[in-house]
Amino acid sequence: MSLSIQPEEQRSITVRAPAKVNLHLGVGRPRNDGFHPLDTVFQAVGLYDDVRASDGDGTVTVEPAAYLPADVLADLADQSGNIVSRAAQLLAANAEDIYGLSRVDLRIEKRIPVAGGLAGGSADAAAALVALDRIWGLDTEDDELLDLAARLGSDVPFALVGGSAHGSGRGELLHALPDATTWWWVVVPSPEGLSTPSVYRRFDEMFPDAPATPASSAAVVAALSSGQPEHLAAALHNDLEAAAIDLRPELGDLIAHGEVEGALRGMVSGSGPTVVFLCESGDHARALADRLQGDDLPVVLVANGPVAGAHVL
Ligand code: C5P
Repeated sequence: MSLSIQPEEQRSITVRAPAKVNLHLGVGRPRNDGFHPLDTVFQAVGLYDDVRASDGDGTVTVEPAAYLPADVLADLADQSGNIVSRAAQLLAANAEDIYGLSRVDLRIEKRIPVAGGLAGGSADAAAALVALDRIWGLDTEDDELLDLAARLGSDVPFALVGGSAHGSGRGELLHALPDATTWWWVVVPSPEGLSTPSVYRRFDEMFPDAPATPASSAAVVAALSSGQPEHLAAALHNDLEAAAIDLRPELGDLIAHGEVEGALRGMVSGSGPTVVFLCESGDHARALADRLQGDDLPVVLVANGPVAGAHVL
């Protein structure tokens, strides 16, 4: 008889989290805490980052998708690493026995454009919370996880829940919305990111008389339940679009170009600079993407929504 000691198997878990598009983004004048009150409708779309947690020494690494542009990549490790490390620290600090937690490596497989207005960093944070909660066996209650998510960023709670949802407060107070259909989008990232605070600052300069109560999302909520792409196209609304276009005038040209090429409607996603085009169907979206893609626009993606929030693969 021979006895051999097996090395302990390395545990690992991978969690996938989606990008978001704001179908309606009503923005009011800043609150006392500096954040802007929002009336928004989020939709999670099928562009994902994966976060793999495995036994290790606590390092965070990023594997970028081939299409992410070089100057954006330079900041990638920093930006993603930051919010993911903060997620780990926050969840650990919330655990009953912080010293009992094992050391875990986090590897982000990045496909959502960085600083793009698609909440890619928020997706990473949400995925990290779920992955670490599982690998540490914490079983954190949903409400508690949503609270932690809101402390990491305004869009992180939505990345946890996914689907379509109405958001208020600074975007963190969510109500799930029913969806009548699958919606199809062409997503055009920009070769250079835009910082969210700078877009909000430009919004404040351009609209010093913005109302305290942001524009209502009722029209988009109604259009979503109609299931009609042309109704949704007519209702799409983004109060940050003018500020994003003021900082990046070429975004206005891109929206016009996509609409000439047959999109039902183009708009800036969130604070930009990603531009999204609503299409009638998957075939329409793929055909539009083919027409738009070229030397000027090397990366044109197709995504549908709504899709699930952060989930274990
Ligand atoms: O919440 P999050 O960290 O994602 O926000 C990033 C920045 O975007 C904030 O520091 C703030 O400048 C701006 N912001 C805002 N109002 C919101 C959400 C974000 O002014 N509702």
